[in-house]
Amino acid sequence: MSKMEDYIKEVTKWNKELKNFLESEDVEQNNELWQRLDRFSGIMDGINGPLDIEDLEKLQEHVDALHSDMENYFSNRQQLGNIYINEPHISAGKHILPPLPYDYSALEPHISGEIMRLHHDKHHQSYVDGLNKAEVMLQNARDNGDYSLVKHWSRELAFHGSGHYLHTIFWNNMSPQGGGKPSGALLKEINKYFGSFERFKSHFSEAAKQVEGVGWAILVWSPRARRLEILQSERHMLLTQWDTIPLLVLDVWEHAYYLQYKNNRGDYVGNWWNVANWKDVEDRYLKASELKWKPY
Ligand SMILES: [Fe+2]
Repeated sequence: MSKMEDYIKEVTKWNKELKNFLESEDVEQNNELWQRLDRFSGIMDGINGPLDIEDLEKLQEHVDALHSDMENYFSNRQQLGNIYINEPHISAGKHILPPLPYDYSALEPHISGEIMRLHHDKHHQSYVDGLNKAEVMLQNARDNGDYSLVKHWSRELAFHGSGHYLHTIFWNNMSPQGGGKPSGALLKEINKYFGSFERFKSHFSEAAKQVEGVGWAILVWSPRARRLEILQSERHMLLTQWDTIPLLVLDVWEHAYYLQYKNNRGDYVGNWWNVANWKDVEDRYLKASELKWKPY
């Protein structure tokens, strides 16, 4: 293969990688960088044979220009104080099933391999699929401005989202080398609030045994109370996604608007935007977004 063919092949590959990179970096679709990359893709698509020297020079100019645009864009972003780290985020509909961190039968005799295989491969996979579907349908709703099924897909989002996030925690919360007691800062914190590990264990066990129907026992960290708490989740689908952090909340209980708006919740919601405190939401976002788990 000639040097020129090699070069074109390399540049074509780079072009593709660049697209993935801009996507993973959340570069806005209307940014000039995308337009330049699109023009460049057009040029690359138009190449279907060896180039003469003049065309090759032009191609190299485009590559150089794209390079310096990229550098400028990201250095501006850094100067603006945006944190620029190449960390993947999960776009709508792109969740995947995390691998089980041990063999299916590794937790025997306490949990059989048969259960683990079914639980992980079938049940957890169906949460991942359902969550992806709900996210895509809600993205479609945003694109089309058609929110007639928002209740349905919000339910699905919560049901499958909690299912996916909680199971992802659950697999790693267990280990063939597990058992015993926690140590260090966690043990101290448990002792501080629950009195002792034994008391914590009894409370957590009872909470688990007494969950009404299906659900979870969950030990949480409460950033507000600045301590641990034990919660029960009766049916995790009740319109929340466990493992998320609230940033902006709107109270639509009747006590929040009835005296003034009677049953006209729509007007209340419409007017509420006039008092939304974005500074506060921004502060919460900055704090909350520091917390990052491995994406799945
Ligand atoms: Fe489960």
